[in-house]
Amino acid sequence: MKLIHTIADLRAATAAAPAAPVFVPTMGNLHEGHLALIRRARELAGDSGSPVVASVFVNRLQFGPNEDFDTYPRTLERDAELLKGAGCDILFAPSEAELYPEPQGYKVVPPAELADILEGAFRPGFFTGVCTVVHKLFNLVQPRAAVFGKKDYQQLMVIRNMVRQMGLPIEIVGGETLRAEDGLALSSRNGYLSADERAEAVQLSAALRTVQAAVAEARGAGRLDGTAVMALEDAAMASLRTRGWAPDYVLVRRQRDLLPATDAELVAGEPLVCLTAAKLGKTRLIDNLEL
Ligand code: PAF
Repeated sequence: MKLIHTIADLRAATAAAPAAPVFVPTMGNLHEGHLALIRRARELAGDSGSPVVASVFVNRLQFGPNEDFDTYPRTLERDAELLKGAGCDILFAPSEAELYPEPQGYKVVPPAELADILEGAFRPGFFTGVCTVVHKLFNLVQPRAAVFGKKDYQQLMVIRNMVRQMGLPIEIVGGETLRAEDGLALSSRNGYLSADERAEAVQLSAALRTVQAAVAEARGAGRLDGTAVMALEDAAMASLRTRGWAPDYVLVRRQRDLLPATDAELVAGEPLVCLTAAKLGKTRLIDNLEL
């Protein structure tokens, strides 16, 4: 695996490859969930000659002023070892000065109806930061396909939308969420949890499964409507609060655009997803489950 820090070296390495790359952008501090995305990229590359390119870059633009940009773990040496083992060919790990040599005045601003809801409502500017860096990385890596985890469900949707509207010739592939044995979705931020919090953290995915079961039951009985959905969302929020969590949202939305389903759609079996974000102590976790 080649470890590359500059745009010039990245361009030289991708130009020398027989086919356009398959790309996995990350912020590093990698875990099995990321490595599964690399393996997926390896599969997509097949024997086409496409190199698997990963990036590790902690993107200041997507962090709010009170978020964890400064403390976000930077573990490049370990990340490089893990990526090598998972079948990555090129690791692009630019410095901030390399990727943002001047203040990034041009930004990619996603539409409010997609980017100002759910995560965007609680992290203003987050998806502008994500789209700006991902668009820039796409320009630099020029991949034919890119893999994003479904754990960041809304991010995956925003990126798909950006690629479609901007006419970028890149296939966007969603990678399944990997979970610990007790159900906790793997995340770099799990490392912030104390032992007690780690034991409690399982309750977030448990809350999603409770909603999933209740939606299935109400659907089966033909009584799933907007009021029933809201009652399930409220019950999940209340239950998390009782356990000491500070939930930002538990919402059941349409998979296709993350907006609420109409009563008619709920009855007709519209594909749904339950999304949640909640703080446990100082750590904010997100998760989702397709229903
Ligand atoms: O999902 C992430 O780790 C980041 O949002 C991404 C896509 C690498 C952009 O910085």
